Amino acid sequence: MTADRALTQDELKTLVGRAALDYVVPGDIVGVGTGSTVNKFIDALATVRDRIRGAVSSSEASTARLAALGIEVFEANRVDGLAVYIDGADEIDASGCMIKGGGAALTREKIVAALADRFVCIADESKRVPVLGRFPLPVEVIPMAAAHIARRFAALGGEATPRLAGGKPLVTDNGQHILDVRGLSITDPPGFESEVNQWPGVVTVGVFAHQKANVCLLGTAHGVRTLTF
Ligand code: 5RP
Repeated sequence: MTADRALTQDELKTLVGRAALDYVVPGDIVGVGTGSTVNKFIDALATVRDRIRGAVSSSEASTARLAALGIEVFEANRVDGLAVYIDGADEIDASGCMIKGGGAALTREKIVAALADRFVCIADESKRVPVLGRFPLPVEVIPMAAAHIARRFAALGGEATPRLAGGKPLVTDNGQHILDVRGLSITDPPGFESEVNQWPGVVTVGVFAHQKANVCLLGTAHGVRTLTF
């Protein structure tokens, strides 16, 4: 796609959503993430739906969109593995580590990513950062542990606040809550992810370092840039 004006963020998302089709294996089941960029991918996937078996989805929202477009959605437990998982990110660093969970789907995203041989991240260039942490880090927590976990983040210099929806704590697809943690600078993503994973009551921390991206299709003013990690 070329344009004599700068592409909007929405257009960049469409561009990378379409580019991700190159990573879809014909006849296969595709792992599908969540978010506005993935919605563009799902729309593109619908144009080749007769060439794939279906999808494993990472959220109720993506499941509804896939189903509405005639793409069969398989339960994660019904597949032994996936060739590829395609998802967006809130931040991605130079080594492919990411912050995810802006759409509150981080737990299922990590599960579906774990099933896949390859994680293809689709993102516009605003998501590229030198160090993770400017975007508030989403952490899915068991509600009774939320205050304790917030104190542990405070000890690391972070400020954790419950994510709200309609004035009440947002309830995830898994029936849990989300803390958004501001003020962190995550210089060692794998170490940070391992540490927070061990805190009682943490369901999933939104650092994807142990399951980082293998490829990032980055939407830029000059088109899609492919980064490999
Ligand atoms: C959802 C996610 C999304 O991938 C992330 O929030 C990016 O979303 P978008 O494509 O809308 O910017 O992790 O939980």
